[in-house]
Amino acid sequence: MSDKPLKKSDPCVMVIFGATGDLTKRKLFPALYNLAHEGFLPEKFAIVGVGRQEMLSEDFRSQIIANLKEFVGKDCDKSLLKWFEDRTYYTGGDFDDDKKLFADIKDMLRDVCAKHEIPENYFYYMAIPPSLFANVTHKIVKNGMGKEEDGKWRRFIFEKPFGTSYESAKALNADLLKTIKEPQIYRIDHYLGKETVQNILVFRFGNSIFEPIWNRNFVDHVQITVAEKLGVELRGNYYDSAGALRDMIPNHIFQLVTLTAMEPPVSFEANAVRDEQAKILQAIQPFTDEEVLRKAVRGQYDAGEIGGTAVPAYRSESNVSTTSNTETFAALKLSIDNWRWAGVPFYVRTGKRLAAKHSEIVIQFKKAPFVLFRDTPVEKLTTNRLVIHIQPDEGLTLHFGAKIPGPIVNMGAVDMDFNYVDHFGEQLSTGYERLLFDCMIGDATLFQRADMVEASWKIVNPILDVWHAIPARSFPNYKAGSWGPKEADDLMEADGRRWINEVT
Ligand code: BG6
Repeated sequence: MSDKPLKKSDPCVMVIFGATGDLTKRKLFPALYNLAHEGFLPEKFAIVGVGRQEMLSEDFRSQIIANLKEFVGKDCDKSLLKWFEDRTYYTGGDFDDDKKLFADIKDMLRDVCAKHEIPENYFYYMAIPPSLFANVTHKIVKNGMGKEEDGKWRRFIFEKPFGTSYESAKALNADLLKTIKEPQIYRIDHYLGKETVQNILVFRFGNSIFEPIWNRNFVDHVQITVAEKLGVELRGNYYDSAGALRDMIPNHIFQLVTLTAMEPPVSFEANAVRDEQAKILQAIQPFTDEEVLRKAVRGQYDAGEIGGTAVPAYRSESNVSTTSNTETFAALKLSIDNWRWAGVPFYVRTGKRLAAKHSEIVIQFKKAPFVLFRDTPVEKLTTNRLVIHIQPDEGLTLHFGAKIPGPIVNMGAVDMDFNYVDHFGEQLSTGYERLLFDCMIGDATLFQRADMVEASWKIVNPILDVWHAIPARSFPNYKAGSWGPKEADDLMEADGRRWINEVT
C-alpha cells in the first residue's frame, strides 16, 4: 500500500514456477486478466510458465485461455485473451536438474525479452512446494537470472507456507539470503490482498473518530474468526501434516491481528507499516506450557451436515490418516503486552467444516459505565460492537442500542451497516491483483518481512510443541456444520464472554 500517486509498472516478465498447478489456474491468471482489464499491466509484458511437465507453449496457451474462460467467466474480453495468447510461453523439465531446465528458461527469457522489447526485469512466482524454494532460487541465480544489475530488477514471490516452525522459517530465510537480498523477497499472504483487510488501515488511520477509542480504555476484547465451510478437499496430504494452527494462524490470522492492533505508522512506506506490525508480533507473549493448556483449544471435525448435505469426518477424507490427530480447528486467547492493549484479550479462532464461511473481526467495546435505563432487562442492555466483515460479504457493522418506540423507555439493539458492494459495486478480484501489481512496482508493504515471519512462528511454536507432545484424546470433538468444539466456547465463557456467531 502506498501514499504515492499510482505508479506504473516497468516492462517485465512474470515467470511462474508451478505453472500447471491449481493456483496458477484459479488465481494467478485470472488476477493477471483483471489487472490487464483495468489497464494495470504494462504493454511490454510477458509470462513464462515453468512446470515439471513437458509441454509446448501453444498447448499451455490453449489451457490458459480455457481456464480464463472458466474462472473469469464467459464474458471474457476476446481481445484481451488474444493479448495473453501473444505473450504467454512455457518450458518444462526437472527442477533438480540445473543444467537443462534452467538453461532453457534463460534462453526463453532472452528470446521473449528481445521479441517484446522488455529490458530483462523479471519477477518469479514460486507456486511450488516450499521444500523447493531455496533450491530453485539458487539455480535461477547460478544461471545468471537472479542478480539485480544495470537497473534491471529481479524479484521473488514465495507462496505460503514459509517454514513449518520457527527454526525452519529461520533456516529458509538464511538459505535464501545466500544468493538473493531481502528487498528482492516478497513473502505473500493472500489475506493482505483482500479489500477489507487493506481497508482496516484506511478505516483506522484515515478517520479521526475511531482511533481515540481504539485502546484498553474503551475496548473490552477483540475476537477474530476465520471460519470455513469447506473441508480439506483434495489437500489431505499437505493438510494432515500442517493442521489448522500452522495453516492459518501465523499467517492470515496474525495479519488481521497486527493490522487491528498496530500503532499508526509514520508513513505508508513498506518498512514503516511493517515495523509497526512487527512490534505487535513482538508484544504477543508466547505461551508457557501451562498456558497452552489453558489458552489454546484444538478440534477436529467429525461427520456432520453442511447446508443439508452429509459430509464425512476428517479422518475419512482422502489422503488423511484414519487415526489422524491433526487439528482442523484452533482457537487462542492472545495477550498483547503493550500500553494500548494491556488487559484486552484477542481471541482468535479458525476451522474447517464450520457452520458458515464467515471471516470477521469484532471490536467489542466496554459496557456503558452506568446503567441509566433500569427498566431495561439486563440481557437487552446493548454493548457497542464494531464488526469488520472480511468475507463472504465485505463491509462494516456498528452495533449499538436505541430506544424502542413507545411510551416507556426501553432499549433495543440496532445495526448500522456499510457494505462494500452497495457503495462501490462489484469488483473483479481474486485477491491477488493488488499483490502482483505491488510486486511489479516494487512496493513490499503488503508482503511479510523475514523478522515478521520468524516472530509469528515464535508465538505458535510452543503450542505446536505441547500439542505434539500431548496428542489430543478427544478427537473428533466437533460435528461438521457446528461452530467448533465446546472447549472453544469454554475459553470465552471462562472470561464471561461469548463468540459472536451471528452471520449477517
Ligand atoms: C489458505 C489455506 O492459505 O487459505 C487454506 O491454506 C484456506 O486451508 C485458505 O482454505 C482460506 O483462504 P480464503 O481466502 O478462502 O479465506
